[in-house]
Order: sequence, then structure tokens, then C-alpha cells
Amino acid sequence: MDKLRMVGGTPLKGEVTIAGAKNAALPILCACLLTNQPIILRNVPDLQDVRTMLKLLQEIGVTASFPDAGDRSHLVLNASIIKSSEATYEMVKTMRASILVLGPLLARMHSAKVSLPGGCAIGARPVDQHIKGLKAMGAAIKIKSGYIQAEIKPPLERLKGASILTDMITVTGTENLLMAATLATGTTVLENAAREPEVGDLAELLVKMGAKISGIGSDKLIIEGVEQLHGAEHVVIPDRIEAGTFLCAVAAAGGEVLVKNCRPNTLDAVLVKLKDAGLIMEVGPDWIKASMKGRPKAVSFRTSEYPAFPTDMQAQLMAVNAIASGSSTITETIFENRFMHVQELNRLGADIAIEGNTAIVQGEEKLSGAIVMATDLRASASLVIAGLAAQGETQVDRIYHLDRGYDRMEQKLTRLGANIQRIK
Ligand code: EPU
Repeated sequence: MDKLRMVGGTPLKGEVTIAGAKNAALPILCACLLTNQPIILRNVPDLQDVRTMLKLLQEIGVTASFPDAGDRSHLVLNASIIKSSEATYEMVKTMRASILVLGPLLARMHSAKVSLPGGCAIGARPVDQHIKGLKAMGAAIKIKSGYIQAEIKPPLERLKGASILTDMITVTGTENLLMAATLATGTTVLENAAREPEVGDLAELLVKMGAKISGIGSDKLIIEGVEQLHGAEHVVIPDRIEAGTFLCAVAAAGGEVLVKNCRPNTLDAVLVKLKDAGLIMEVGPDWIKASMKGRPKAVSFRTSEYPAFPTDMQAQLMAVNAIASGSSTITETIFENRFMHVQELNRLGADIAIEGNTAIVQGEEKLSGAIVMATDLRASASLVIAGLAAQGETQVDRIYHLDRGYDRMEQKLTRLGANIQRIK
């Protein structure tokens, strides 16, 4: 298992280019299942989760090719032949986002069998809302032997439009129902829809494929179903979480970095907090120049759905707070168990206590290097940030979690002057 070894204390300096968004790319890859024509994608991030999704799509029958040798961000997908409508437990257990094939397969093939994802490290993460919405659209769904077995039963020939109000805001739930609704008969109204920019990016691609969607970017999506979708080309939006992660790294380790190819307007809640922490930022349309001198100031925050502070940035800003002057409280409202980085940050000398869904952080002037273990994707990123700010050597074990969602993070940090190496 690969590890990252770093020696902290070097300020970061230079430029970093942000890759395409993981959480936009994953549903977008699944959208290819809705048409028998090619989908051409650019700015696809080269990540383990993307490779896993491509493997699942290939098992279903999709062909994936990279027209430019050596450039894995340019991808052509073709789902003209679907040979299986199944996502097995083996695939789904390695990546929960595999559930995103359910809506498109059901809409196009009229049946689908997808393993239940089950819980994961950060929480129980049920998919009841995906199922409830598809049932409202006329699907007959049975849960059998750990599998969701869904079909459209005669006399229905296609899914049918429905008014769906989900009990809570769910990102992949909204995406699954949105994709399913594009090929349904009649109108679907999705209320309480997730407004995350990644949902908007998927919707933009679907519109290019011929879908009729209004309300994109709002919490009410209205979809007029069409009989068929066609091929399209799309550039995946930049990853706001990767951009936010590098900004936190600068806030913690100091220095001056130009973050290129990002969308600052998707990062408002994060930028407000980083500014309060003392990060100096100049913001352009697709770049942020960030500099930090001295110790950050502690900032309290609470995670919530977009446009509020993202749960996917909670661990990284906690690492900044760990070395900040003052104390802060961090409340996690999306996932019930997303504090596993706390005990690892404490191993590096942080002083963080957990009370229910709130972490209380007493900023320490210095962290000191140690051997720590990554427990999930964003937890890994927070440990890297803390390690870059700590004195001495830090080793982060189990960084396969990091590789799921960051495109060559240690190479990008090396280019910024960090002393960091991957140990095979
Ligand atoms: N929920 C239910 N029932 C459902 C669906 C969701 O109870 O049917 C609950 C979840 O258990 C959770 C909350 O609703 O407590 C929100 O979950 P959501 O469905 O929005 O999460 P997700 O779609 O499974 C996506 C991202 C996550 C990100 C969350 C929240 C993808 C592939 N994943 O997950 O990304 O944290 O939205 O923004 O888009 C990450 O990138 O590190 C990551 C975990």
C-alpha cells in the first residue's frame, strides 16, 4: 500500500492547475448510458474513482477510448450496445457512486439490477430517496439478496413523469432521478433538488444531449421527457474541492500560490472562511491567487448543502484550525461519522475534542510530524495539509483513499516546493 512521506515547514510557492471535478465526472460518465451515440468529454480527472466507473461501464458494454495518446482527460464513450444492466456488489462496494447507473439503465433498458451500496466509513448513506423517486416514476422495485432490482412493467413502456419531493437534499439522488426523467413520458418535477454545481454540470450535458430541463442551478428541476437523447461534447467543470484543498494547504503551510483553472464562484462559502482565517486572496474569473503570512486565525463553521460550506471541505479547514490562533467549533450536518481525521490530527499534536456532531478545536502553535492513517478521501487531504504545516516528518498511510479523488496531489505539491514523496 502506498504512503506519503513529507517534511513540513516549507511555504508553498508557484502555480497549480485544478483538474476536472470528480463529483461532476462520475454522474457525467453514467449519462452516456442514456444514448446509443458517442459522448465526447474533456477535462475528465485521472482518478481511481473515474477508472472504477469506467470499469463498471465497460462491464455494462460501454466502450471508452482516449483519442489523444497520453491524455486521459479527453475521453470518448459509446454505449451503443448494452450487454448487461447489472452493477455487481464487487463494483458497488468499491465505489458508492456506482449507484448512478441505476437511473440511466432503467430509463434506457427498462430494467436494472444494482447492488445496494451499504454504509461506508463516513456514514450509513442509504439510497431510499433514489428508490422512492424511481417508484414514483412507475418503476417496480424489489430489494432482493442485497440488490435493487428495478423494472418498468407493462403496460408502461417508459418511465413516466412524476412530482418528486425528496425527504432531504441528496446529490446523487437528484442526479439519478434527473437522468431517469430525461427519457420518461411527460413532465417530472424534482423539488428539494441538490443545487451543487456538479448537478448543474450534469444537467448542462443532458441538455446538450437533447434533454429538456429547466431550473438548472435551483432546487426545483423541471424535466420534459423526450423519446431519445443523442451524442454530445462536454467539458467537465473544475473541481471546487481540489481548489479549496490547495487553498487550505497555503493557509496552513504559508506561501503564495496561483490556483489556476478553478471556478471561484462555486467556492463562495469556503473563500469567506479562508479570508476570515487570514488568507489573502485575489480572485479572477478562473483563478485565485492566495498568500499567507504567519499563523491562521481560527474560524468556526458548519457544513450544509450548497451554497453553504461543503462537507467535502470540512476536514481540510479543520487542519487549518488545528494550527490557528484561537479556538473554533466545527459542526458537521451532512454525514454522521465524518470526524475520523480528528484522532489522526491529534496524533500530530492537534487539540480537538468531539461533542456529538461538533468538533471543538483549540489551535496549537505547532504540530509535530508523526505516522498517521488516512481513513477516507477528505480525511487524507486534511492529514497531508497538517503534515505540510507540522515540524519534522509525517507519514500518511493508506493513501489509496487520496488517490480516489485527487489527481496527482503529491506531484502538484512537489511543484509548489513541498518536501513530499510517495513511498511504494
Ligand atoms: N441520504 C439519505 N437517503 C438517500 C440519499 C441520501 O438518507 O436516499 C442522506 C445521506 O446519508 C447523507 C445526506 O442524505 O446523510 C446527503 O447525502 P447525499 O446523497 O447528498 O450524498 P451522496 O450523493 O452520496 C455526494 C458526493 C459526496 C458528498 C455528498 C454531499 C458524489 C459522487 N459524492 O454524495 O462526495 O460528500 O454528495 O455533498 O457526488 C467526496 O467527494 O469526498 C464525497 C463523499
